[in-house]
Formats: sequence, structure tokens, C-alpha cells
Amino acid sequence: MARVHNFCAGPAALPLEVLEQAQKEILNWQNAGLSVMEMSHRSPEIVSIANAAEADLRELLNISDDYAVLFLQGGASSQFSAIPLNMLGEGKTADYINTGQWSKKAIKEAKRYGNINVAASSEDDNFASIPSFDSWNLSKDAAYLHYTPNETIGGVEFFWTPEVDVPLVVDMSSTILSRPIDVSKFGMIYAGAQKNIGPAGLTIVIVRKDLIGHAAEITPTMLDWKTADDNDSMYNTPPTYAIYLAGLVFKWLKKQGGLEAMEKINRKKAEKLYSYIDNSGFYANPVEIASRSLMNIPFTLKDAELDKAFLVGAEEKGLLNLKGHRSVGGMRASIYNAVSEASVDALIAYMQEFAAANA
Ligand SMILES: Cc1ncc(COP(=O)(O)O)c(C=O)c1O
Repeated sequence: MARVHNFCAGPAALPLEVLEQAQKEILNWQNAGLSVMEMSHRSPEIVSIANAAEADLRELLNISDDYAVLFLQGGASSQFSAIPLNMLGEGKTADYINTGQWSKKAIKEAKRYGNINVAASSEDDNFASIPSFDSWNLSKDAAYLHYTPNETIGGVEFFWTPEVDVPLVVDMSSTILSRPIDVSKFGMIYAGAQKNIGPAGLTIVIVRKDLIGHAAEITPTMLDWKTADDNDSMYNTPPTYAIYLAGLVFKWLKKQGGLEAMEKINRKKAEKLYSYIDNSGFYANPVEIASRSLMNIPFTLKDAELDKAFLVGAEEKGLLNLKGHRSVGGMRASIYNAVSEASVDALIAYMQEFAAANA
């Protein structure tokens, strides 16, 4: 069966080469005589796989030794609790910026643990923009500032980094590895793997080492970053197969030319799709131009009554997972690293055809 064009927001498309290599190695990894899935996490094989994955991720993102790289479980959602538990401290306040559904979830969870100041919000604008930095009502002595550099549902992305004196904490689930970033500007970066990293089940945390070791007394052992840091992310059984696949994705990214090369391709893909949408007279994207996501592109049809027919026709052409998130409706095309320009071209061709037939 031919493979489809997969526009899923996550778990998302993986590079075909990576899947083919995993297929080749699934029964017998590098003549070890067994599958990676069957290996002890204490075995030299898994340790070497995890070490290579970490080294390649460090190289791709240019992560210095001042930062720990942790391979965790529990999804980005668990970090919504881990962050205040590890960083908020007694009686302190943390600032949060609310730019969409994922920011909101992070805020809701953090509020269980202490004082949270929502310093700015674009909710009144239906999350179609990012509040300008000079409007942010930041606390005097915040423990950290949290924001979501790419809102997967709203398709809103920061192309700038706030300049503040407190650690920046960022949910990069849907933007990590899509373009270069300066890790040294951040205190803590976290991401669920299931978009640009690998399969679901792995969560990556990149945290400045001086921010580890200050967790509140009540912090569950598994949510204290020190636990993972002291044990090379192997305090308990880590998601070994997901780490292996992420490692293959990192090698694939290096082969593509690293993140500079990915940014070029990703910009080209996104520009093509936005430009078609804007000029179509049939489709629309609500996000302010300067904050339009390179990874997640929501769009509506001229008439929502046509949504169902659009999705049925798309599926017939092998264009899958275009339905928008249930909270906003419409359509959404997620075009992560592993979604090729050819897939974007196929989507645009179908959109043109559908618009012409329903004008
Ligand atoms: C920006 C963002 N944050 C958090 C999450 C939740 O991640 P997880 O399912 O790994 O908990 C998602 C999932 O789609 C996301 O897109």
C-alpha cells in the first residue's frame, strides 16, 4: 500500500528512511541477536543508543555542558506540573504568557502549586496574535517566565525571544528542531517527542544545571529533574524504543544538513501554503502575519458547511488528518520536518481543485 500524506499534529509523520532503518533492525539490531525493544535498559547496547541520541541532539541544538538533557516520560503535560514543582520555590510568583490552548493548560496546572501571574493573554483576540512585549505585566521578582513558542492548535509562533532577567521556560513541543534556536537564552526547554522528535512516549527536557536540585519537598520522585539527572535518565525503565527511534531521527536531521537546512525547507513549505491560502479567496488563516506558525497551519473554508466534503475528498487523495482541533474547528495542516514539500504541493493541488469545484 502506498504511504499517505500525513498532516497529523501528533503523533506525526516520521521520515520514511528512519522507519525503513527501524524495519531493517527490528528483529536483530546490529547483529546483537535481539530487538532494541527486548534489551535491558542497563545493557551496553541501550546505553550506547541513548548516549548517541543525546550527543546528536546536543550537536543539532548546540547545547552546552551547562545544560542537562533528560529523556523522560509523561509527555509535555507532566512538565506542566514538574516546572512549578522544580522551579517555583516557597512564596514566589511565576509569570506565564497565555497565547493559546497549550499555554492555558500549563497555567491551569501551575496554579495548583503557587502564585501564577498571567502577564499577558491573547484570548480576547481569539488567540490569533501574540501580545506585544511592552504590554506584558511582568512580576518584579518572578521565579521564571513561561511561554509556548508554538501553539499547536492556534498555529501561533514566536519568532522572537523575550529579553528578561529571569529563567525562560518554554514548551517547544511543536517547534523544536524545526529551525535553529539559541539554547543559552533559556532556563528550561521541554517537548513531547511525537511531532519533530520521534514516536509518542518520550519527553525531552533540556534544563540549565543550576536549576536542578531545588524541587519542593512534595515533588514526586519521578517529577524531580534531579532524579533523572543523577541517573542518566535511567532511574526507572525509560522508553527505550522511543529513544532509539529519536536517535535515528537525529541522525536523519544531521544528514539533511542540520537545523539551518530544515529551516529553509520549512519556511519554503509554510510560505507556499500561506501564500496559496491568502490568495485563494476561498480559504483563510486567522493568525497575524508576523506570528504565523511554520509547523501548524490552521485554515477555514469559505463555508463551514463544506468542511465534511473537503475532508472526505482529501482522504480519497491520501491527504490525512486535516481536521482542525475540536476546540477551534476548521482545518489544520501540520507540516513538521518529516512532511515533505511534495506533500504540501499535493495538499495545495487538492485545495485548488476543491475550491474550483465549490466556488
Ligand atoms: C504545544 C504542546 N504542548 C503540550 C502538548 C501535550 O503534550 P503531551 O501529549 O506529550 O503531554 C502538546 C500536544 O500536542 C502540544 O502541542
